[in-house]
Amino acid sequence: MFWAEALKEPGKDLTGEVGAPGRVAVKDWKKTYRERLTTAAEAVRLIKSGDRVSVANAVGEPSFVIDAMIDNREAYRDVEITHMLPMGKCQFAQAGMEKYFRLNSTFVGGPTRETVKAGHGDFTPCYFSQIPNLYDRTLPLDVALIHVSPPDKNGFCSCGVSIDYTRKSAEVAKIVIAQVNANMPRTLGDTFVHVSKITALVEHDAPLIELPPPKITDVERAIGENCAKLINDGDCLQLGIGAIPDAVLLFLKDKKDLGIHSEMFSDGVVELAEMGVINHSRKNFMPKKAIATFLMGTRRLYDYVHDNPSVHMAPSTWVNDPFIAGRNDNLVSINSCVQVDLLGQVSSETVGYTQISAVGGQVDFVRAAALSRGGRSIIAMASTAAGGRISKIVSLLDEGAVVTTNRCDVEYVITEYGIANLKYRTSRDRARMLIDIAHPDHRDKLKDGFERRFKVKYSGGVSVYLGAWPQRPSV
Ligand code: COA
Repeated sequence: MFWAEALKEPGKDLTGEVGAPGRVAVKDWKKTYRERLTTAAEAVRLIKSGDRVSVANAVGEPSFVIDAMIDNREAYRDVEITHMLPMGKCQFAQAGMEKYFRLNSTFVGGPTRETVKAGHGDFTPCYFSQIPNLYDRTLPLDVALIHVSPPDKNGFCSCGVSIDYTRKSAEVAKIVIAQVNANMPRTLGDTFVHVSKITALVEHDAPLIELPPPKITDVERAIGENCAKLINDGDCLQLGIGAIPDAVLLFLKDKKDLGIHSEMFSDGVVELAEMGVINHSRKNFMPKKAIATFLMGTRRLYDYVHDNPSVHMAPSTWVNDPFIAGRNDNLVSINSCVQVDLLGQVSSETVGYTQISAVGGQVDFVRAAALSRGGRSIIAMASTAAGGRISKIVSLLDEGAVVTTNRCDVEYVITEYGIANLKYRTSRDRARMLIDIAHPDHRDKLKDGFERRFKVKYSGGVSVYLGAWPQRPSV
């Protein structure tokens, strides 16, 4: 009965809402659940040509439902897919799919780089703290594809590892299709969607996508060790994605009472939490809890966060809001980049004209750290790329490169060669400090660049800051 109605009126808002009598009865959620339980093949018939469809972020993508949507592609023309971090196959973005699907992504990664580069897909630049707002304003959603834990006794399903924009997509889309998976951890916080809000429920238990811990090279260890020099007992950490944040964690095992308020975290944090190094005990904001908007790691992480009251997850509009995250005293943000020029302009998302990544939460957290009493922001990177051929510290950003974090926001830049504290320093001092932490093979070229830019003879470096961070006055 429900399905006959649902398929008859494409485009009709089929969601209900807890506490919204007259739309959908929620008092007997089990009945609603049974009525809306269906197969993936049936559920994806709710998607119509020309719809805008959001797909849950990163390892939270509902792969089983996406596969059914791909199988049903001949029924679609020009379905716009909005998505962020591509961790699955992203078949909808691959060559040959252009007739059926059009990608509009807020992030670019491995499986979508070629799509955007070739012009088969679009990229929308947006701070992660604002991505959920796109769905209110510029990108109203027809359909949200989400991935949830089984309902609890009150009929609430958790969006698990991806709350970010995913929970918001379920609030605002006209049609919500959920893969219900017993392997999805039930994370706590502002993570829940009520069964009454979901149009189609597809039960399918499958392992979540896992991201194994990265291999850490000697260069990354050296960078991690330099970053750890700036981290004090009791600090609250934000860690970006990849080998460098994991390398930093290796050097924190002797610290005490660290806390987490981070866009995401991974297995490395679980290890330190189990050792008692991370315990959130000195956090002044949301004490005793790790804060995150999405998670990526192995089953060890997913088991750790399941029903764990010491992990609080919430949408990125809250977690990444600089004025929220900045309420943590001693917030240390650690992120990485592609290039830094001699003025300290940080490019984190392009290689020349090619978009390879996105701003994500980098600027949100650089600014949060600036607002935090005693906060510090770190951009940490290897001094070179391409096996040492290319310096990541450059006189001028590559033609086509975008500035992700602007030079007035940037504070510490760290490589395996040292630490440069650029904040409030003159342009020439910044350049000297950056040359000091560049790879020795590239320093002469950078000194030429210095002389070209500043029209003065390069006269040696300044000593890089290696001491303990002085307490910043209260703001
Ligand atoms: N010139 C040319 N190529 C470069 C380069 C440079 N200066 N720097 C990096 N690259 C290439 C690498 O060789 C690599 O190419 P490959 O994928 O073909 O091997 C690719 O760019 C990615 O670089 P890599 O150093 O391997 O990436 P990473 O995993 O360490 O991530 C960022 C680095 C900058 C891409 C990543 O930190 C990011 O996306 N940052 C922006 C978002 C963000 O900070 N979010 C924070 C909150 S989670």
